[in-house]
Amino acid sequence: MSEQGTIDVTDCKRCADLVESRSQIVNGVGPGDADLLFVGEAPGEQEDIEGEPFVGRSGEILDSVLAEYGLDRETVRITNAVKCRPPENRDPTATELANCRPHLEREVAGVDPAVIVTLGKVPSEHLLGRSVAVTNEAGSVESITIDGTAYRVLIGLHPAATLYDPSTRETFEAVIDEATELVAGLR
Ligand code: URA
Repeated sequence: MSEQGTIDVTDCKRCADLVESRSQIVNGVGPGDADLLFVGEAPGEQEDIEGEPFVGRSGEILDSVLAEYGLDRETVRITNAVKCRPPENRDPTATELANCRPHLEREVAGVDPAVIVTLGKVPSEHLLGRSVAVTNEAGSVESITIDGTAYRVLIGLHPAATLYDPSTRETFEAVIDEATELVAGLR
């Protein structure tokens, strides 16, 4: 099992804007050897205050869908592609994503999850290295290689998408269902 200490970012000043906008670095939470690793975009206001990913409105949605499929937040790992809150919750820039990539790669390698589930367009495109139409491609599984190791990536929606368009809730649920099936099949 990976030690949390080896995965956590304790200090980073690579992004001048984010050093200004953040109250703290928001590291991933959950077991250091979780089967499922959820990767979001970047912390929002509440996450920046509490120092934990997905604890605001998006987190409530994520938690409730996880619970529908028998998953507890404590048993999965949840993180973000960028660990600091961007100003005014803007999307992280390509440079910020690139600056934070070594932290994410260290986390992925340490956790060594059976499945990485991307939450939305930004982390999907960042991890897959191509443009992704998340609504159409949600539920697709692709392989990526990080430092010589292959990982399965399951494309998912951002939980907030279900707020803007409630008809996407079904797709969001189907992705979580598929994630649990994939993990069960790999055990
Ligand atoms: N949205 C994200 O992408 N990450 C969070 O931690 C919260 C909201």
